[in-house]
Amino acid sequence: MSDESRPSPAQTAVAAVIPAAGRGVRLGPGAPKALRALNGTPMLIHAVRALAASRHVSLVIVVAPSDGAAEVKSLLDAHALPGGTPSGSWGSTDFLVVPGGDTRQESVRLGLDALPPEYGVVLVHDAARPLVPVDTVDTVIEAVRAGAPAVVPALPLADTVKEVEPAAEAGDPEPVVATPERARLRAVQTPQGFDRATLVRAHETVTDDVTDDASMVEQLGLTVVTVPGHEEAFKVTRPLDLVLAEAVLARRRLNDGF
Ligand code: C5P
Repeated sequence: MSDESRPSPAQTAVAAVIPAAGRGVRLGPGAPKALRALNGTPMLIHAVRALAASRHVSLVIVVAPSDGAAEVKSLLDAHALPGGTPSGSWGSTDFLVVPGGDTRQESVRLGLDALPPEYGVVLVHDAARPLVPVDTVDTVIEAVRAGAPAVVPALPLADTVKEVEPAAEAGDPEPVVATPERARLRAVQTPQGFDRATLVRAHETVTDDVTDDASMVEQLGLTVVTVPGHEEAFKVTRPLDLVLAEAVLARRRLNDGF
């Protein structure tokens, strides 16, 4: 389909791609990060639920470790919402599982390759951000539907950030080369939202190693915009983050019987 004949993002359905193929070495030894349990439920399941909670998201594509697609598919079936929905769907949200690649970028591209034609808006969400609130998901979707080609949830920084000359050996002193003005910096989260054609073009065009999808769109020369992120959309990276995530879940259970 040419870009001209493609329906506008405002008219089309929303799908989410969840790259979940990373090993998560910074969490320490054990299962792939997305399959680590938070309060007894795998992090990936929390992440899928968080996106399926949006009434706009009608398909979730999970990109599994390349040798773990069957395991992830059965995990999703086992945690499907009660009510006897058929295999491959959770209530009104369908899901697909595809095997991932060696890098996050490759995993996202493999997820995009599996996207049916009717989806014009794509969210890319890290499995490692299992607790993103539905309001954040919906705010990102609204901004894409309003016409932004790429949208990222973002928060101001608490820490001052230094640019350094990285040392050859971890732990060695590193010379500081610059201190960017903190008020102009934002920490960005996921889901990042895109007009589908824009994200596909970015993945076809940009081959540099990147740590998020929006930076690929920036490299196309297009404007990426931020919307307010949320402190509960933090990335579970280190062991202390698991403790924090379980505390957030406990607080939600107390507050609203989640
Ligand atoms: O490593 P990092 O925390 O940046 O990973 C972000 C997300 O990308 C995680 O959800 C991880 O599972 C995913 N990933 C992937 N394929 C890879 C590497 C990371 O899907 N090869």
